[in-house]
Amino acid sequence: MRFHALRNITATTCVVATVAECTVLHVASYSGNVTTFDLKRNDKGIYSLATLGVTNGSAPQASWLELDAKKKTVYGLDEAWSTPNGTITVYSNKKNVLEISKKYTTLAGAVSTIVYNGGKALAVAHYGAQALTTWSIAANDGALSNIGNFIFSTPPGPVPQQDKSHPHEALVDPTDSYILVPDLGSDLLRTFAINAADSKLRELTPFKVPAGSGPRHGSFYTPACKPGPGKCLAANKENTYFFLVSELANTVSSYKVTYGKDGLGFTLVSSSGIYGNVSTPTGAAAAEGILSPDNKFFHTTGRNAPFLTTPNPDSANTTALASDAIQTWAIDAATGKLTFQGSYPAGGVTPRQFSINAKGDMAAVGLQTTGRLVILKRDIASGAFGAVLASVEGLGGVTTSIWDEGNPRYAPLA
Ligand SMILES: *[C@@H]1O[C@H](CO)[C@@H](O)[C@H](O)[C@H]1NC(C)=O
Ligand SMILES: *[C@@H]1O[C@H](CO)[C@@H](O)[C@H](O)[C@H]1NC(C)=O
Ligand SMILES: *[C@@H]1O[C@H](CO)[C@@H](O)[C@H](O)[C@H]1NC(C)=O
Ligand SMILES: *[C@@H]1O[C@H](CO)[C@@H](O)[C@H](O)[C@H]1NC(C)=O
Ligand SMILES: *[C@@H]1O[C@H](CO)[C@@H](O)[C@H](O)[C@H]1NC(C)=O
Repeated sequence: MRFHALRNITATTCVVATVAECTVLHVASYSGNVTTFDLKRNDKGIYSLATLGVTNGSAPQASWLELDAKKKTVYGLDEAWSTPNGTITVYSNKKNVLEISKKYTTLAGAVSTIVYNGGKALAVAHYGAQALTTWSIAANDGALSNIGNFIFSTPPGPVPQQDKSHPHEALVDPTDSYILVPDLGSDLLRTFAINAADSKLRELTPFKVPAGSGPRHGSFYTPACKPGPGKCLAANKENTYFFLVSELANTVSSYKVTYGKDGLGFTLVSSSGIYGNVSTPTGAAAAEGILSPDNKFFHTTGRNAPFLTTPNPDSANTTALASDAIQTWAIDAATGKLTFQGSYPAGGVTPRQFSINAKGDMAAVGLQTTGRLVILKRDIASGAFGAVLASVEGLGGVTTSIWDEGNPRYAPLA
């Protein structure tokens, strides 16, 4: 018996009154479902995942979830592959079960959101509609109002997947003054200045990354500060880096960020193949890139090139499952340089996105092709990923899994 549990839909006592006893995760899938799980640990130290609730509020193509910890809400996106419009759903999660609070029609192809301007606004990257949409968030009830859409017609890059502009993520810089959008189709880091008075964005000159590299996801890194809320970030902005994962070139790069009159500048510090000391396997498509909660490691994933294996969740089946890799990079705080530490089994095929718990000893990884959510053990000191502690199979194309513990990608300075 390995540390895993098949889907368990038994009732649980994880309600608001006992919230401290619960470890809650929200998981979105291209099946259309957004499922909320409680990660339980029994007195023998065995973990299991119990279902707390399921919603179809972001159906049919639930592509992304973002916790707005301040408001106890979760933003969910429907990518809408076959309809002209997608949706942004605002979920309330007061009882550890997501309920649709509000729902808005938007452009199609929505794949990522970020809360910005002290929690007053939301930016959404639309891969399919070559757009960035922006929304104000009402202080009293979290209602969204559209405050502007940008549609990009920049000539795309040379690779077939670059048929047009494809904004893949929306990020906010550590000072909460700029939005950054990696555009996979146009090989650009798009930047926008935030007007603090009304949250509207002003488009700045984008930064060009290598042609055909396909920038996808990334994270800002400020050595002096832990990720998360605090004025430390603004005070140390002159010592900030941006780590970028490029899907088509399968690279991970570090840039020194400069703050100038015309916005953000980027100077390359280091760049490496995402598989580190092993050459990039055919068919690979690099995906996620996030910082560890202690700011010591950058973690990435490679998709669709499963050269590793992971134990079969069926303990009676001795055939191991094919697995893509999740990687660890050590950060040199003095230079921003990234050094490969290792590739570890991600728990299946197509780790599109993953997230690490606040303590840093576990990661939740969604495996889109395998249709699986796994909780991986993570060693805080070395940043290495280890055994599958718990898993759920049969989830369809998992796109996002987030811990309901705060939003490490968003740093309100107020
Ligand atoms: C969610 O399920 C309900 C009940 O089956 C259905 O009426 C509704 O249309 C579904 N919503 C979406 C977005 O698929
Ligand atoms: C719905 O999609 C159409 C076609 O892209 C677009 O013109 C329209 O603005 C969208 N509606 C909203 C509310 O974004
Ligand atoms: C055992 O697992 C492998 C890999 O997932 C699978 O292909 C095979 O069908 C499984 N065998 C049985 C008897 O379930
Ligand atoms: C790659 O690096 C890892 C971690 O340092 C090491 O375990 C592995 O043996 C190396 N592989 C090769 C082919 O050098
Ligand atoms: C989605 O949720 C519904 C309702 O709980 C369930 O019947 C269905 O099997 C789920 N689909 C997947 C792929 O998990």
